[in-house]
Amino acid sequence: MRIASIVGARPQFIKAAALSRELRKHHQEILVHTGQHYDYTMSGVFFDGLDIPAPDVNLGVGSGPHGAQTGAMLAAIEGLLLARTPDRVLVYGDTNSTLAGALAASKLHLPVVHVEAGLRSFNRRMPEEINRVVADHLSDLLFCPSRTAVTNLAAEGITRGVHLVGDVMLDVLTWAKARANGKPPEILTRLDLGERRYLLATVHRSENTDDGRRLADILTALNALDEVVVFPVHPRTRKAIERAGENRLGPHVRLVEPLGYFDMVGLSRHARLILTDSGGLQKEAYWLGVPCVTLRHETEWVETVTAGWNTLAGSDPEKILQAVRSFAPPASRPPLYGEGCVSARCVELLA
Ligand code: UD1
Repeated sequence: MRIASIVGARPQFIKAAALSRELRKHHQEILVHTGQHYDYTMSGVFFDGLDIPAPDVNLGVGSGPHGAQTGAMLAAIEGLLLARTPDRVLVYGDTNSTLAGALAASKLHLPVVHVEAGLRSFNRRMPEEINRVVADHLSDLLFCPSRTAVTNLAAEGITRGVHLVGDVMLDVLTWAKARANGKPPEILTRLDLGERRYLLATVHRSENTDDGRRLADILTALNALDEVVVFPVHPRTRKAIERAGENRLGPHVRLVEPLGYFDMVGLSRHARLILTDSGGLQKEAYWLGVPCVTLRHETEWVETVTAGWNTLAGSDPEKILQAVRSFAPPASRPPLYGEGCVSARCVELLA
């Protein structure tokens, strides 16, 4: 089969690292990069570091308001699908690239495959929630990472083509851990950090970056901590922090450029605790056995909270500080989101 895979944003490159490799053993893949993320640190570094095949096409859409960005992708993807006539179109996750890919394909009557289907935050103010709901309703094959995701789909009347497969991000993490071979990551030396002697923070959700008050609250909390905080800053967050006045931050809050995958896994693995609004990082924290404080009021990855390894603190400085100081996960950490080899299962089901 000829399969068009649509990617455009950082977490999709990581998922494609596992799936593209597997896909290409059995099928012909047309890897389409929409250009939603374009800085080297947000895109190129993943293709280089994770041995992802170079995109066959880069649509170069770039940044813009949601409608303009999604609209530009929609037109460009439609043209590409008409020209390259794939048998299936594969989309990942919940970004504007996911929405545009699913919409363009379904209007051309091409079967849509959605990897990471069925996740819900039940918060329609998140652009990602809208993208997920629409993509799921347009998909013919839906690969779910959890039982909760399957149940969410059923509640919306979607039961056909739904498969519980686990999470492809676990495949990538397992591969990265094997590659590291137990060696301490070089990033710790580069940043002069001791194991479990620092916190790792990331913030990029629009609910946190586009609301000046919320971002200021999160920065206030980071500032009040008495531990080193390493904070790889997403470009959107960088702009927002500059607007909010970065010079308010103490020297223990170390803003660094966005990191490549191996550096990020290395930093995550040895952090004492992770503070984040990222979905991927909540799961990675769990798999690596690092406590996680989520800077949101809800999460799609509810199992990590139920297991006692993730706590929701929103943006309230008091809640964040209290969680960082006293959150203590239990000793047990049952397997969540499958046990690996998810990409192989997805490719098997594709046929
Ligand atoms: C997107 C996804 C989100 C995903 C995240 C991962 C949507 C609606 N959201 O949000 O689900 O978790 O990616 O990072 O699709 N920018 C740069 N350089 C880049 C990329 C972005 O400067 O390489 C800036 C742009 O100027 C823009 C801002 O970041 O103003 C937001 O970019 P956008 O394309 O909406 O993506 P994310 O916010 O990263």
